[in-house]
Amino acid sequence: MKRFTNKLARIICIAVLASLLGTGILGAQEMPELVEKDGRWALMVDGAPFLMLGGQSGNSSTWPAMMPGVWATIEGMGANTLEIPIYWEQVEPEPGRFDFSSIQMLLDGARQHDKRLVILWFATWKNGSNHYMPEWMKKDPKKYPNVTARDGRAIDSPSPHCEAAMKADARAFAEVMKYLRDADPQHTVVMVQVQNEPGSWNSVRDFSSEAERLFRRPVPEALLNEKTLGELGVAVDSRGTWAEVFGERADEYFHAWSVASYIEYVAAAGKAVNPLPMMVNAALRDPLTNPPATHYESGGPTDNVIPVWKVAAPSIDLLSPDIYLSGHAAVLKVLELYARPDNALMVPEASASNSLYLYEVIKNGIGFAPFGVDRAGYMPEDFDTQLCRDYKLLAPLARELARWSFEGKIHSAVEPEDHSDTTIDLGGWEARLTFGPPRRGTPPEGAARPVTGKAMIVKLGDDEFLVTGTDVRFTFAPKGKNEGRPWQYLKVKEGRYENGEFRMTRVLNGDETDWGGPHIGNRPSLLHITLTPR
Ligand code: DGJ
Repeated sequence: MKRFTNKLARIICIAVLASLLGTGILGAQEMPELVEKDGRWALMVDGAPFLMLGGQSGNSSTWPAMMPGVWATIEGMGANTLEIPIYWEQVEPEPGRFDFSSIQMLLDGARQHDKRLVILWFATWKNGSNHYMPEWMKKDPKKYPNVTARDGRAIDSPSPHCEAAMKADARAFAEVMKYLRDADPQHTVVMVQVQNEPGSWNSVRDFSSEAERLFRRPVPEALLNEKTLGELGVAVDSRGTWAEVFGERADEYFHAWSVASYIEYVAAAGKAVNPLPMMVNAALRDPLTNPPATHYESGGPTDNVIPVWKVAAPSIDLLSPDIYLSGHAAVLKVLELYARPDNALMVPEASASNSLYLYEVIKNGIGFAPFGVDRAGYMPEDFDTQLCRDYKLLAPLARELARWSFEGKIHSAVEPEDHSDTTIDLGGWEARLTFGPPRRGTPPEGAARPVTGKAMIVKLGDDEFLVTGTDVRFTFAPKGKNEGRPWQYLKVKEGRYENGEFRMTRVLNGDETDWGGPHIGNRPSLLHITLTPR
């Protein structure tokens, strides 16, 4: 009898477990979400801050034949997150008939490789064009028109004033989000990008008859508040039509409003069934010269129209810069412009050379990903690039870094373009940084070397720091009440992170600290440093 009851209890248990698993209740994790505190942001995943050390695939990689290479790359890089597109043309090959096999393939692969996903919804806009719209839409340009340029010609960019396309996109996106809700209770997918670099090249806005009608109407009430008008650089009591309120910037602000409003409609439809964090990426404009919109993709979330997007698209949690421009002044300005109290900083695409700014992103942001990492020839076979070395060192402490970033404890610097020394203010201490590979003898006069140096310092306590970098030497000096006093290292430990704890591999002393402070070369290491004034 006892054996029978035990067996019965086991069967009941298994049945309950199976039904819980089936409904997704068991295994369901907390919903990823963006949390703001004192103007800083964390992406919460499984209830704790998460740092995306990511890589974005090429555009045409979401196919069974390509995925083994994609996963091998993500593994080889030491990344924890894959950003990868899904294609509207493939998801809805006929109106109302949906095929989610590509999504399931991504979920299966990510779980097998223990990685997270950011899914990119290539739909109405991909780099300003409609190339990922399903064929049945492409064949019907009357119903799904492109933008009309000022001279009356249609350009290669979908009109944001096409209600039929907007509704079709929203319906498909909602189906995608519903599928994810049911197939991904454990939130392998931590964020969804809605469209890709939306906006229009070659026309500042749509000049179709519908667009003209709207352009002549008063600016929507929602934009007419002190904060938004102030940020857009016009008098806070301005009222009237777009041209009256915004003058020479009216065309591009109108287009940004139109594109953002369309995407809001799509995102809101998805969010209603599955409220994952949602993002829109920007093809940037030069952040330093305020160029006219004819010089960049108009309508997307470029830095000057972030305030328009924030009002028009509240379902979009963050606007993110794709950083292909170069030079410290421009890149650092972009990072500053997108890290806002109302916008979490994330870099969803970057050129390989912009990996130099990894620490600058970690300091104030939630994630970084170079673009096209699986493309032929991008990665060396041994994955021995600077970024891969950085990722491998940092991945075991990604959770800690995300928390420290959220708490404002991270400081960083990138080697100045003239290779000069830099200081970082750490409160009671100043870090003094000298850049370059370890010096053996005097370099030949005038020898040019590339900028490779960078440093990151986490302030763990008043006199306690976790430090890493590339081609950088660290030394310190007391500040504040101890300024000018002699000081010394109490201990410099080299080590790595394991299960949330620093594990020492050796103590650096003697030659490793006495000749101007510890130096880290192009194989980044992690140093735990304690200092004391004397
Ligand atoms: C930016 C786009 O967002 C990507 O999808 C890709 O097309 C790259 N440009 C190409 O460099």
